[in-house]
Amino acid sequence: MILLDGKKPAAEVRSRVKREVERLRSLYGRAPHLAVILVGDDPASQVYVRNKEKACEETGVVSRVWRLSAETTTQDKLEDLILELNDSEDIDGVLLQMPIPDALDPLACQSLIDPAKDVDGFHPENMGRLVLGMPGLRPCTPAGVMHILERYSLSPCGKKAVVLGRSNIVGKPMAIMLSQPSLLSNATVTMCHSRTADVAAECREADFLVAAIGKPKFVTRDMVKPGAVVIDVGINRADEGLVGDVDFESVKDVASAITPVPGGIGPMTIAMLMSNTLQAYVWRMEEQGGEEPR
Ligand code: GUN
Repeated sequence: MILLDGKKPAAEVRSRVKREVERLRSLYGRAPHLAVILVGDDPASQVYVRNKEKACEETGVVSRVWRLSAETTTQDKLEDLILELNDSEDIDGVLLQMPIPDALDPLACQSLIDPAKDVDGFHPENMGRLVLGMPGLRPCTPAGVMHILERYSLSPCGKKAVVLGRSNIVGKPMAIMLSQPSLLSNATVTMCHSRTADVAAECREADFLVAAIGKPKFVTRDMVKPGAVVIDVGINRADEGLVGDVDFESVKDVASAITPVPGGIGPMTIAMLMSNTLQAYVWRMEEQGGEEPR
């Protein structure tokens, strides 16, 4: 069994971003700048945002976090802030940490972020670009999964892939990426959700199984085809600490490769965010006429 460590590949991506930031900062006269909006005090979101800030510090990306109160932030106020950040010349990326309080409308907010600054890749334009195979900013978690597969030379081409979960953040874009007609994808994909008749039976067919449903240890040994590649996107808080959507201890003996939690896909998500922020900055600078001399 191969343990698919995400910490090392994530560190490699961050150091590539850091080198590029150092090189381009002198060329373009400033570093990339990421704006993060956090509404409310969800403890998990606070940790994620802190980790995003740390990754920015490490890579030389300037970051600023807007911490807004859940009680006083209305839809109008949040939308005004997004529009202000869209208009700000020296901000390259705008990220609204999910989930946001129930009183606010996530799709309306995500659709308001300038697609060129949408480093989460959640804007309808970027989602559309993903579906159509056009260049654009890609959602970080599924992009991190594809990076891990490539890094460990695990090709889903012609294989059966099962994605557990149909969220806009992970499940849907993951299914699209795995089925894309590109060298590193080309899987035959099944997406399972709460109304799937027999989830365990679907999982047993999977050569590549991606779990993104937010249910601790949901995937057990009997649900995994021997030799399958198992990718665990879940991060659940349990008495024993952080656990994934996969029961690692039992599944590790049947899988040919498996990601741990923590230390698997989590670090990759943040590394891909840094990569997207660099990409958004480069595209914006080129747009403003600062094309790199060849
Ligand atoms: N919450 C969980 N994952 C993500 C993510 O990738 N981006 C944002 N903005 N919020 C999240």
